[in-house]
Amino acid sequence: LTGPKPRLEADLHWLELSAPVDAEAVDEVVSLLGRYSHGSPVIEEKASPAPGERPFIVKAYLACDGSLASKKRRLFHDLERLPSPYVPQLQERLLNPEDWSKAWKAHFLPHKVGEHIVIRPSWHSYNPSPSEIVIELDPGMAFGTGLHPSTRLCLLRLERHLEAGMPALDLGTGSGILAIAAAKLGASPVLALDIDPIAVKVARANTRANGLGEIVEVKRGTLSPKMAAGLRGHFALVVANITARVIAELAESLALVLKPGGRLIAGGITGQGLDEVLICLALAGLRAEAIDRDGEWHTVMARGAQRA
Ligand SMILES: C[S@@+](CC[C@H](N)C(=O)[O-])C[C@H]1O[C@@H](n2cnc3c(N)ncnc32)[C@H](O)[C@@H]1O
Repeated sequence: LTGPKPRLEADLHWLELSAPVDAEAVDEVVSLLGRYSHGSPVIEEKASPAPGERPFIVKAYLACDGSLASKKRRLFHDLERLPSPYVPQLQERLLNPEDWSKAWKAHFLPHKVGEHIVIRPSWHSYNPSPSEIVIELDPGMAFGTGLHPSTRLCLLRLERHLEAGMPALDLGTGSGILAIAAAKLGASPVLALDIDPIAVKVARANTRANGLGEIVEVKRGTLSPKMAAGLRGHFALVVANITARVIAELAESLALVLKPGGRLIAGGITGQGLDEVLICLALAGLRAEAIDRDGEWHTVMARGAQRA
């Protein structure tokens, strides 16, 4: 059997990597560590750095699971390719589960994305204005706090294109953040899929916490050709924030489940994978209408043909 093995969330230890950097190197180091970190790296600014001390610290968290050694190897390999003034002296700290929980929770605060969407960690209160849509979230071990550029780019597109009553699919739902945002922006019904059993558990809990249990269905799985055939022409909007490779591989299935003229918002695409995605989407009959970018992350908005 392939696929992710269930992890013992409560027992997992974490490796905190701290990289002291100068202001010019922050974006590059955040983007590099972000390829390996669980969620977005966090940036701390020193109030009064000592002379010669680098004023920013970028911190990334890696789960101490079976993938740690290979992740570290690739990360150090990538670091060596940075321009030499940017290369940070990485410090490592092993965190037990409680310390990790405290460390990342301290950086996850209510934050606004776009015009109306506010992400509120479930342990924080927030007083919304009448025009704000609040998403309550506890991402736990799943990806999707809304802080990562790829999630943010998808949220911005959802805010722009969703209309009430649109059936929507969120492929690779993680914490459920995009499915919940879609439902709160009026999409209905919403199907949320993820291959990771932990993400499914977390997304279900978040969906319920937002009172959307009736609108959002969270299921374990992916858009296999069989599933896509059963959902042919079903969705007015599909969002898939995963990786370039997965989107390229599933391009035909993604195109098949769209209604004529429906929109695909595909994220998690680095510059390197963009061409492959654009070619596969075009071969599947989808027309790329916009490419949004934040650092190395790209989101492609593509449309199906108007007629089936
Ligand atoms: C980058 S996270 C995105 C989470 C969330 N949607 C967001 O935008 O923040 C990608 C998610 O896709 C899931 N995933 C990876 N490959 C997949 C596949 N082939 N089908 C469905 N989900 C997949 C992962 O388990 C992970 O939860």
